[in-house]
Amino acid sequence: MDYDVIEEEDDAALQAAVRAGIRNADPADVRPRDWRVLSLGLRANDGSLVGGVYGATMWGWLLIDGLWVAEDSGQMLGFAFSWVCGDLWFLAQLFISPNHQNQGIGHTLISRTMEQAQKRGARTKALITFAFNRASQSLYIRHGIFPQLPVNFFAAPREGLRLPAGRLRSAPLSASSTHLRELDAIDAVALGVSRAKHHRYLLADAATKGLLFYAHNGDCIGYAYVVDGHVGPLAVTSQEAVVPALATALTFAVEAGAARVSAFIPSACRGALSLAIASGMRITFPMLLMADRDFGDWSRYMPRNPGFM
Ligand SMILES: CC(C)(COP(=O)(O)OP(=O)(O)OC[C@H]1O[C@@H](n2cnc3c(N)ncnc32)[C@H](O)[C@@H]1OP(=O)(O)O)[C@@H](O)C(=O)NCCC(=O)NCCS
Repeated sequence: MDYDVIEEEDDAALQAAVRAGIRNADPADVRPRDWRVLSLGLRANDGSLVGGVYGATMWGWLLIDGLWVAEDSGQMLGFAFSWVCGDLWFLAQLFISPNHQNQGIGHTLISRTMEQAQKRGARTKALITFAFNRASQSLYIRHGIFPQLPVNFFAAPREGLRLPAGRLRSAPLSASSTHLRELDAIDAVALGVSRAKHHRYLLADAATKGLLFYAHNGDCIGYAYVVDGHVGPLAVTSQEAVVPALATALTFAVEAGAARVSAFIPSACRGALSLAIASGMRITFPMLLMADRDFGDWSRYMPRNPGFM
């Protein structure tokens, strides 16, 4: 059969046909897509639309088709971006241009993004901000999101790093269904939510290496990702596993040739804090986890960065 590439005139009909073709090609063993269109708009006090985002969710992923930001006479005023995983709504980014701060735009943007939590039935709202950012903390408190615990960024040059001897048995992470199930089980214990879409993102990144950790009896007890010497996210099923898991991940980073190592360590991971300091790592950025209610066990979880968590 011969084929021709033709510019279709009816966009809607073509999109529907392509979507149906993709849906019909879904493997039988994956759960339903649960495709839902998502449209969020930002409106000024006079009702005019000044920004918005449109896309869809499927398999718990958000597919963004387009992004508008708050604008005034062609000038960008600011943007907010949040993600939802099951019960958890997380504010990844909020930025208002310096010349337009203190005019209520931050209030408006955070209110609109929080509507996403309500729409998706996410009970917990959380974020990580700079511990010294008085303006953002005040804004979040106004919206019912309160300081929970310090999460400090630790870093050190590879030269002179003194890592302890104990190591966990580890294996490279892959996107196999067995590994994805292990990751889901660890996240359920450490955080109480599935982070399947985050794992798929990390596993698809060639520069990021993932490790699964095993106990002597062969049980899978945690995971960590490492990229350019940075460790995180790291999650373990018991508090005792945090120190050997971090030591193993840092050693992996050093052996991979990183010139500098780093990690975000919550204050509840006391063993990990002691290990970092004893190894020669130092606090570079003091940050703060804020949430509207307790969630997760932060003695067993180390975030990747403030937006990713
Ligand atoms: C933090 C930020 C998002 C606030 O946005 P904004 O549009 O200036 O804020 P709004 O005018 O809507 O609301 C201001 C609220 O923030 C708080 N705030 C603003 N400036 C403040 C300051 N200097 N000190 C304390 N609180 C302050 C107040 O709670 C205030 O509300 P209120 O006066 O009603 O109590 C904005 O300053 C910003 O983008 N900063 C740089 C990037 C950043 O820090 N992002 C957050 C990273 S997590």
